[in-house]
Amino acid sequence: MRIVRTKDYDDMSRKAGDIIAAQVILNPASVLGLATGSTPLGTYKRLIKRCDKGDVDFAGVHSVNLDEYVGLGPTSDQSYRYFMNENLFSHVNIDIKNTNVPDGLAKDAEEECARYEEVMRALGGIDLQLLGLGPNGHIGFNEPADAFARETHKVALTESTIKANRRFFNKEDDVPRFAYTMGIGSIMRAQRILLIVSGEQKAEILKAAVCGPITPQVPASVLQLHPCVTLVADKAALSALD
Ligand code: GLP
Repeated sequence: MRIVRTKDYDDMSRKAGDIIAAQVILNPASVLGLATGSTPLGTYKRLIKRCDKGDVDFAGVHSVNLDEYVGLGPTSDQSYRYFMNENLFSHVNIDIKNTNVPDGLAKDAEEECARYEEVMRALGGIDLQLLGLGPNGHIGFNEPADAFARETHKVALTESTIKANRRFFNKEDDVPRFAYTMGIGSIMRAQRILLIVSGEQKAEILKAAVCGPITPQVPASVLQLHPCVTLVADKAALSALD
């Protein structure tokens, strides 16, 4: 794992945005795996800026997002499809038809998971997967579990994730209890992985993910087995590793 240490959140966002921009410059037909949460917001702002300047062209890019809440559709402002449209897709020249997010309103969960795996397969896999880190070590919505999930699946969110994501909803009862997420296997098949982490509150879990035992109880620890991971993290997030 290559570790890029940054001063602060802004510096992390700039460097992460530039790594994604470089990927698209080198391969304009890249398949990008994208993430939601607060952490990537600055990264997306950086990409928008570089697209505005004419440095990066998204016309040939395809994207697949990590996850989506079960029960939320594109018009719900808490859905991840809405988040991606608002924070990236509507500000860059990507063709919206080339963007993929699991369908939170799908009638049949099993069919939706199989469809999503097929979308990734048909695209030839992910060139660069962006990841944030959940407070309990989750990646996508792969929660601590007894085994690593191979493929896209429906998952029950843990109490800790429901509480962590409560801040985006009016009340805790509004936070969906289930989500669709790419599996650990789907994530690990990406050619390259870019993990971004910011803030002291993530320091201990980041240390467990980077240096602790590889265990499904800390889902991000599996990244130690991937041949091409770049971690871009600020000083505060790396403080327990120092
Ligand atoms: C959510 C998402 C994850 C994200 C995580 C961390 O639960 N499903 O993909 O990485 O939260 O979010 P944040 O960046 O807001 O800390």
